[in-house]
Amino acid sequence: MVDALGVAVVGFGWMGRVHTQAYARVRHHYPQLALRPELVTVAEEVPGRAEEAAAQFGFASTARDWREVAADPRVRAVSITAPNFLHREIGVAMAAAGKHIWIEKPVGLGPEDARAVADAVAEAGVQGAVGFNYRNAPAVEAARELIDSGGIGTVTHVRVRLFSDYAAHPEGALTWRYERERGGSGVLGDLASHGADLARFLLGDIASLTADTAVFLPERARPAGATAGHSRAAGGELGPVENEDYVSCLLRFASGARGVLEACRVSVGEQNNYGFEVHGTRGAVFWDFRRMNEFGVSRGTAYQDQPVSTVYVGPGDGEFGAFQPGAANAMGYDDLKVIEAYRFLRSVAEGAPYGATVGDAVHGAVVLEAMARSAESGSWVTVDGPGAL
Ligand SMILES: NC(=O)c1ccc[n+]([C@@H]2O[C@H](COP(=O)([O-])OP(=O)(O)OC[C@H]3O[C@@H](n4cnc5c(N)ncnc54)[C@H](O)[C@@H]3O)[C@@H](O)[C@H]2O)c1
Repeated sequence: MVDALGVAVVGFGWMGRVHTQAYARVRHHYPQLALRPELVTVAEEVPGRAEEAAAQFGFASTARDWREVAADPRVRAVSITAPNFLHREIGVAMAAAGKHIWIEKPVGLGPEDARAVADAVAEAGVQGAVGFNYRNAPAVEAARELIDSGGIGTVTHVRVRLFSDYAAHPEGALTWRYERERGGSGVLGDLASHGADLARFLLGDIASLTADTAVFLPERARPAGATAGHSRAAGGELGPVENEDYVSCLLRFASGARGVLEACRVSVGEQNNYGFEVHGTRGAVFWDFRRMNEFGVSRGTAYQDQPVSTVYVGPGDGEFGAFQPGAANAMGYDDLKVIEAYRFLRSVAEGAPYGATVGDAVHGAVVLEAMARSAESGSWVTVDGPGAL
């Protein structure tokens, strides 16, 4: 028996589109899902954008104000894909209205926002999924299993990198991403949030850290009109970039392992160079998002000159089998969001969380806030447990 579940999307920029496509595709890959998402409504503040989305994807209605979505009894689950400064207000209101939420990272402007959304979700007894999509990659799940099973010995250290050029162009518009009030942090919330989540997913809790941040492009042109994604604005009035372009961070994990996390949004020549190298006493595992469906493994008892193999993920690794019949048939970025949609809807159907939750977002936000504090003080800081908030 498959029940219909009315879903809404709030904010139809890049992520709004990707969530919508994931709802449309999820049952193609997961016919066993006990729920069938129905696109009820899309809320957008830019005139015409919701209507275009409805025409293209078949939402039954549109709204200019997300509060209409909160009050809409047809809607039982909501994707919150608006800019960061709206996450808390919208997330809390949707949960309080009894809607399950699938909210984008980093969940607000800081740990207090993420905590408020997590508390609202817990109080309402709804599900709260979060867009930490990189942990959904089958190769990342396989790497985690290898690490957890002792396949590379005792983990000693990790390097996590997230380099991108999305903000490298001098004409990149001064969108909400570069403002403290609407974006919060810069590359910390945007990319390092994924890195902190991956580090914890693979190696467990981070106990302390020291970080350094920098702004490399201090001014950008204000856009003339509405923006989506990484728009350009040539010749506009210049305004200040208020948050960091770059972060480097040394990590100490609760396990005793050490790590380095580095993220930059203005790295010319780097396109989505996201990945990790995890080292253990008997081996290592390597992953690069740009070659998402494979990972490098060195394991055995040779210690020195130990060969490194490339493993193509296949059915049996994470959710690969829901997408491709055999190894080395490529999955893509949007498929990670289909997996996320599946886990969210399964959580709703079964009343228990699958995949990353708003609780994970609180953990991540605490780590990011510790990085910001350390960058300001220039010293090592302890990462408080999320319960300290
Ligand atoms: N998981 C990922 O890989 C990933 C990638 C990119 C962005 N994100 C996250 O997704 C969120 C959105 O990012 P994006 O790249 O899609 O941004 P975007 O700027 O492309 O889209 C945001 C949309 O929200 C709309 N909006 C703004 N205020 C609104 C309001 N009051 N009501 C309704 N709509 C409103 C904007 O008009 C825009 O269409 C951010 O939190 C970002 O951190 C996650």
